[in-house]
Amino acid sequence: MTAVVVRGIGALCTCDPQRGEAPGVVKDAALMARDGVITFAGPESELRRSDVPNRAVEIHARGAAVIPGFVDSHTHIVWLGDRGDEYARRAGGDTYEEIAAAGGGIRATIRATAEGSVESLTVAARTRARQMLAHGTTTAEVKSGYGLDHDAEMRQLDAAVRVGTEPEVPDIVPTYLPLHAVPDGSRDAYVDEVSARGVVDAAKRSRFVDAFCEEGAYTVAECERVFTAARAHGLRPKVHAEQRTRSGGALLAARAGAVSADHLEHASDTDLQALASAGVVGVILPGASVVLGGPPPPGRRLLEAGCTLAVATDCNPGTCYSESMPLMLSLAVALAGITPAQALVAATTGGAAALGLTDRGMLRPGMRCDAVILNSPHWIDVAYHLGGDVVSDVILGGRLAVRSET
Ligand code: NIG
Ligand code: FE
Repeated sequence: MTAVVVRGIGALCTCDPQRGEAPGVVKDAALMARDGVITFAGPESELRRSDVPNRAVEIHARGAAVIPGFVDSHTHIVWLGDRGDEYARRAGGDTYEEIAAAGGGIRATIRATAEGSVESLTVAARTRARQMLAHGTTTAEVKSGYGLDHDAEMRQLDAAVRVGTEPEVPDIVPTYLPLHAVPDGSRDAYVDEVSARGVVDAAKRSRFVDAFCEEGAYTVAECERVFTAARAHGLRPKVHAEQRTRSGGALLAARAGAVSADHLEHASDTDLQALASAGVVGVILPGASVVLGGPPPPGRRLLEAGCTLAVATDCNPGTCYSESMPLMLSLAVALAGITPAQALVAATTGGAAALGLTDRGMLRPGMRCDAVILNSPHWIDVAYHLGGDVVSDVILGGRLAVRSET
């Protein structure tokens, strides 16, 4: 049996709707877990001495705020190579689409990544996963998508799975993203192979299938073909939808029973209402929005439509090279018309919903004990302190995984 108790919490942000107005703050609180599961989250005065196991690890938060660990529900951290040159070219006026049409963009990363061994991919992803944990992310979705070839995609999924077995990284949720860049040869042959062999082998490694539904990428019909095949093998769809143009990805997500529709900058109100009616989580990726320009991420619009909202990094070498959820919260508040409290809930409870996970994302007895002790007594600093070093300690599955240096 392992046990941990955190005392002296100035403000415990439970993100639990049962605790009242978001983010469900309990003042002068304590948090306790046994074998990785929360057994107490409430006022410290209500924690009875007899409830604390003898050998519990004791942590004193010294009045700091504590929040749930972030659930980063959209990342592409399995890549090799680097696209700093494109970043500079875009700053000089070239667009993402022009660079992609000239063979750069996702295709450039595929050239650098597709031949990578599981070992080399694991090393690359591990470095980023550790950075994520250091920034307070305790669960991270990780996509393939830089293979454009069956075996290469499987190696990327294997690397994601392998990283997830290691210590000092977030809990990893792999997602198969076969439809990302388009092949030089027959699109039909590629989509056929993905729908036949791809989804079968991916289902041994992941629970989700994703597709980039976009002009210049894949059509609604192509994505739907893969989703239909994938569902038959237990893979639930996620969609890169309405990112650069309104291409039909949101309505497809609603029709296909997707767990989430992600990006959505060009989504119409009708699209957002369709997502809400179908129970699809709307994931905004404000880092990619700010890097690429264009319409703002529709945070407030998703909430007004009645959707569950998630915020994620999209960590990738092209549109958002960042492992930092606190930075995404700052950007979401600045761009997406949502409050800091809504951003925090979207980054925790919302992220869990975008991965179909019901055992995390809030600090409530019975949930996984994933929590972040901040460097401040004010939880709002997690968004307000732009680019700040806001994370002190990280508790991952009831174990102290990141410890402050002071
Ligand atoms: O989520 N939009 C498509 N995929 C990624 C970008 C990947 C890349 O540029 O390497 C995204 O923005
Ligand atoms: Fe993405």
